[in-house]
Amino acid sequence: MKIPPVKGTRDFYPPEMAVRNWMIDGWKKVSVRNGFEEYDGPIFEYLKMFQIKSGDEIVEQLFSLQDRGGRDLAIRPEITPTLARMVNQQINSLPRPIKWFSVPRLCRAERPQKGRLREFFQWNIDIIGVDSSVADAELIFTTIDYLRMVGLTPKDIQIRISSRKLLAAVLLSVGISEDDLDVLYALLDKKTKLPAETFEQMLLEKVGEQAKADEISSFMAVASIDEIGQAVTMDSDIERAVVELETVFASLAVMGVAEYCVFDPSIVRGLAYYTGIVFEVHGATGELRAIAGGGRYDNLLRDFGGPAISATGMGMGDCVLELLLREKGLLDSQLGKRRLDYFVTFADKLFGGTMYEVAAELRSRGYSANFSYKLGGLSKQLKEASAQNAAKCIIIGQEFAESNQLAIKDMTTGEQELVDYGAFLSGLEPRDT
Ligand code: HAM
Repeated sequence: MKIPPVKGTRDFYPPEMAVRNWMIDGWKKVSVRNGFEEYDGPIFEYLKMFQIKSGDEIVEQLFSLQDRGGRDLAIRPEITPTLARMVNQQINSLPRPIKWFSVPRLCRAERPQKGRLREFFQWNIDIIGVDSSVADAELIFTTIDYLRMVGLTPKDIQIRISSRKLLAAVLLSVGISEDDLDVLYALLDKKTKLPAETFEQMLLEKVGEQAKADEISSFMAVASIDEIGQAVTMDSDIERAVVELETVFASLAVMGVAEYCVFDPSIVRGLAYYTGIVFEVHGATGELRAIAGGGRYDNLLRDFGGPAISATGMGMGDCVLELLLREKGLLDSQLGKRRLDYFVTFADKLFGGTMYEVAAELRSRGYSANFSYKLGGLSKQLKEASAQNAAKCIIIGQEFAESNQLAIKDMTTGEQELVDYGAFLSGLEPRDT
């Protein structure tokens, strides 16, 4: 009986694994050059940890289980709650600001579709302990730093930025009560995912009055920060939120990435814990779901029983990013092909043992080396070397018995030379072992 893989999961055969490693290496490289340190946590946590502040949507998507002691656990659908828990645990000894990154494997019980799976990898960068909007700008910069490194231009992607503070101030000014904000955020977050009429209908049902619904809709459709005043009646809270947004855009301009960034008041974010600047990265055509999303979450550490310390962060999944990079032809051109340093062959079966010895010697010196298991003729061995993309072949023949010499064949030029085995080994550049 053949058992298929579970729907929404992926098997990583070597070509897929090469893509995954390339992507993760890039995430790590960009994190480090932007001053972040790596952390990780367990892949499962107490179920209640994800029920505290992540929001209904993610709670509905939990893979949960019970341990033998009857404790309710869940596989992590995101790492932000774990981060809050870990930081709270050592809050008095951790030097601040905390700039940490992680690449967790996450599971969400979603209906699998293009770019949305039930198991995926997600790059996370978070800055904890910095109130200033410079931290928000820095996160957005780091996100762009990676996307730009892999070849995506402002023509390909857009960072859509808004503010929960601004949205809250607008909703309160329209007459929505503080208690209804969270429910309304969840609906507004779905605006672009629902047909316009359905959305308008649902909004009206939630807010009760057409005039309120219209004011909210006209704010959500504003095209630039300057136009906010035309859509809503300004008050001091709205004013403050606007100034904060303008500061973030000014910092992004100083950092040289303004071209990638736009103000978009329809960005709300699905997770419940965001409190300030929020942003999402989308492909310019807008067909795919978000490549990344994040924002400020100043109350999460406190909600997890810690002190009131501000935080801001970003998560980028591997699935949509891969689709976009493939679509733009940016993946194959950047993926390093597997390259073997040496393929060791023999011209005579007599030297089979020496072949293993030479391969083992090269490997112990940090060079990748393979040989054929088939004990076939030289031409067959050379074919196998080409199939494995070997840079050079070592051919062990009669000269080895006579004068300790090997033939080294350059697989690119086809040139071949005889060298003394001892001199060859001592001439090898030292490699990390
Ligand atoms: P999120 O918006 O839920 O945020 O996820 C961020 C990104 O992860 C999405 O834009 C998407 O690329 C990817 N992603 C999410 N769900 C799936 C899925 N089922 N399949 C494939 N990719 C997916 C968070 O998770 C926040 N914790 C990010 C964050 C960190 N905020 C502050 N710090």
